[in-house]
Amino acid sequence: MPPLREVLYISLLATDQSTTVVGQIATLARARNLRDGITGLLVFDGMRFCQHFEGPPGAVQALLARLEADPRHMALRVLYDGALAQRRYQRFEMGLAEVEDHEDLVDVDALEGRAALEYFIALRSRFDISG
Ligand SMILES: Cc1cc2nc3c(=O)[nH]c(=O)nc-3n(C[C@H](O)[C@H](O)[C@H](O)COP(=O)(O)O)c2cc1C
Repeated sequence: MPPLREVLYISLLATDQSTTVVGQIATLARARNLRDGITGLLVFDGMRFCQHFEGPPGAVQALLARLEADPRHMALRVLYDGALAQRRYQRFEMGLAEVEDHEDLVDVDALEGRAALEYFIALRSRFDISG
């Protein structure tokens, strides 16, 4: 099996951006991720982004670099970054879940490392994901 890497991060919508930007981001991300072999889930609560993505290590590294330079969000903090044996997302190039409840991502934000990853994965079943 080829090696895989996964990253979970949290960030804040930049103050000069409208909440509608998430739709444009998700549409472009899907096409690009399909080409790059990236799958994952983007959650947006109106203020915070939390994104979990996986793929070949080089593609994951390149995406992380693009995300860190993207002015549409700020204060990006990587919560988890590690090797992965098997994809967790098969169906989505990048699923999108827009949530009303801010508490979910506030709770993720308070965690780090594997605890953050496990908390996010447990949350997934509650999200209404469009892909
Ligand atoms: C919250 C957020 C999530 C994003 N998710 C992805 C993604 O999953 N895949 C992707 O290719 N770009 C994603 N982008 C966009 C990238 O930051 C970048 O703009 C895009 O990949 C095009 O990069 P380029 O103009 O350097 O080619 C995301 C941006 C933001 C703000």
